Amino acid sequence: MKEWTREERYRYLKDPMEVKDLFDRISVSKYRQTFHIQAVTGLMNDPNGFVYFDNKWHLFYQWCPWGAVHGLKYWYHVVSKNLITWENLGVCLLPDEGDGYDNKGAYSGSAMPIDDKLYLYYTGNNRDSDWVRHPYTCLARLGSDGWTEKYPLPLFGAHPDYTDNQRDPKIIVMPDSNTYYIILGAETPEKRGCILVYKSENLLHGWTFAGELKVPGVDYLGNMWECPSIERIGGHDILMFCPQHIKLPGRGESTNHNGYILGKMDWDSLTFEHEGSFHVLDFGFDSYAATCANNVQDPDKAILIAWMGLPDVTYPTDEEEWAGSLTLPRELTVRGRRLIQKPLPELKKLRGEELSLEEKFNEEQCIRLPDACEIEVDIRPGDCEIGILTDGDGTGGIVISYDDREKEITIDKSGMKERFNTELGESRKRPLPDGLSHLRIFIDRSSVEIFVNDGDAVFTTRAFPTDQEHFMKIKEGDTFMHIWKLKPAVKDNFII
Ligand code: FRU
Repeated sequence: MKEWTREERYRYLKDPMEVKDLFDRISVSKYRQTFHIQAVTGLMNDPNGFVYFDNKWHLFYQWCPWGAVHGLKYWYHVVSKNLITWENLGVCLLPDEGDGYDNKGAYSGSAMPIDDKLYLYYTGNNRDSDWVRHPYTCLARLGSDGWTEKYPLPLFGAHPDYTDNQRDPKIIVMPDSNTYYIILGAETPEKRGCILVYKSENLLHGWTFAGELKVPGVDYLGNMWECPSIERIGGHDILMFCPQHIKLPGRGESTNHNGYILGKMDWDSLTFEHEGSFHVLDFGFDSYAATCANNVQDPDKAILIAWMGLPDVTYPTDEEEWAGSLTLPRELTVRGRRLIQKPLPELKKLRGEELSLEEKFNEEQCIRLPDACEIEVDIRPGDCEIGILTDGDGTGGIVISYDDREKEITIDKSGMKERFNTELGESRKRPLPDGLSHLRIFIDRSSVEIFVNDGDAVFTTRAFPTDQEHFMKIKEGDTFMHIWKLKPAVKDNFII
């Protein structure tokens, strides 16, 4: 695999045609997704600035053009009318070519519409000539003509009492208040992850440090808390973030997790009173940096999208010089003390031809799956075992099993021929005290998302099946199911 020098990773993209050859090569990969947003070239990571503005949904992603490597980051822009079909609009926020505030990357952030402009709050990842990092919280505005203009000065720089890990501004506008907040992921000098709060009465200037967010009962939960946000859903506040460098039970050697704490946010005392512990958002393998759309009008729901990938790992397509895809957007609600994540209702519009199951089962009781499909299964009480992306004889693949005695679902991907990141664990479990009754599974060319019991739990994983691994087998359990081909929904075209 290619070894990247710093110079190569931080090379400035001067002309889109510099990555045209790369695009032409990767666009024929059998692992290019058909209904998920994916890197146009090179690497994508966090989704940024998810918002409804000017009659469209806007989303940006962290993009490094050159290959499957983290380097100089741009914001790449995609839009949608319905959250399902997406179009590439091209690069939107460019880092400074000289020694400006964002000279080594326009890092993650959020967006807020004000009148006819969209304001982008992001981290300017500045490094000086000794490669010392100086993070700045920066602002840019995007007009409906697609032109981005950066504010010449940052809103504020790094707080001296914390390490240089201070980034990922989330702009928060409270409905009945004249005070606006920006929260930032940060870390104390002792490397305790935390959140810094800034406030202002004007969205565009006058920002002052308000303090560190207090989360009583959570003394230490990993290093730097990346990509924080506080969402209000159904009368609850949800604190979401990605604590770095911490292992959690049942998640192998993985030290990158995306989770949430449910509770109540008091903005006057900057205290988040939790009701319950830290839960992971996704029980699968590849999900990080989730973000929720700003300005969704329904107080009982939010829409979440996440990076279908992880920091510090490699994927099989790295050799093809691209990596990264986003999850499907998900509808987020609260039930009891948990978040429920469901596929958006609009996704049903992607359903094409339904497979007639009687005809399609082969002599091994396996059915060939289309490259892009949705499987819906009703499961009767008792144990159950389903293999997806198996060989034609039903062996291998990803095995979804439910043990009724243990009341636990397990997703095991160790049967896939292309195994990757095995040290992070190849099987993940989740207790299901009320049993398993329903699955909705979305398979694209290199990913699988499994929604359990109508959003009670989600397992997301990248998967890189060989040409033989396209079957499904029900090994145990009395079930009723549908399989639909899914229509392509995300254009894979060269727009930079
Ligand atoms: C999370 C992250 C953010 C940062 C961005 C850089 O994956 O490390 O904290 O802003 O990626 O691309």
